[in-house]
Amino acid sequence: MLEYIDSHAHYDAEQFDPDRDELLERIHKAGVKNIVNMGCNMERSRISVEYSQKYPFVYAAVGIHPEDVEGVPEDHLDRLREWARLPKTVAIGEIGLDYHYEGYDPEIQKKFFEEQLDLAQELSLPVVIHSRDATEDTMDILRKRSKVNGVMHCFSGSAETARQVLALGMNISFTGVLTFKNARRSIEALEAVPLDRLMLETDCPYMAPEPERGKRCDSSMIVHIIRKIAEVKGVSAELVAKQTMENTLRLFSKMNSPIN
Ligand code: NI
Repeated sequence: MLEYIDSHAHYDAEQFDPDRDELLERIHKAGVKNIVNMGCNMERSRISVEYSQKYPFVYAAVGIHPEDVEGVPEDHLDRLREWARLPKTVAIGEIGLDYHYEGYDPEIQKKFFEEQLDLAQELSLPVVIHSRDATEDTMDILRKRSKVNGVMHCFSGSAETARQVLALGMNISFTGVLTFKNARRSIEALEAVPLDRLMLETDCPYMAPEPERGKRCDSSMIVHIIRKIAEVKGVSAELVAKQTMENTLRLFSKMNSPIN
């Protein structure tokens, strides 16, 4: 049986309301050793923390997603800091820039991104970065810091961008997108990422990999992503699972042993 970590999930999504407890229990028994549930705004960061207290194998990240920067309470950094200090909060995330939908304000997004990068640095915590249609600005902000302890999640950039992200010291994680038929660019990027800098994630309930595409995604579907990576890298699925688990535990160093 393959054992692996889902480094980025959203089990607070309403898609999981009907069967969350039962599903988590089942997939944990089926090989999902640990899950990191992401924060996207204040409420969902609070829920991430709650899940990390409720489920022994679930860890939390807390942060404000670039699409959620409107209407954030003024004391948000104090509250994030408090949650981030809890033993099972392992990262600040997901934070970053997203210029995909019209009507965004790049300046507000950048302000939130930078102040949360500062918070992570203050607390010596890694960051989980979301960047969509905003590569240039994201990289400009990150380069100012010379070294970034973090992961670029749901990576969709080119092989060249992957090399730049790696040069900053960051890890890269891919979702089920790798298994899609039109994934040539993602596969090229994957080829540029050494095995010891790679992480696995579902971003569930979204992004279900082939052959489950279109269904509600859950962490057990990572096996399809593992098999794809093994095929591209010419190594065994066991090695991909083991190495990505080690990489995740190295980055999210507050996670104890994956045995829970
Ligand atoms: Ni996400």
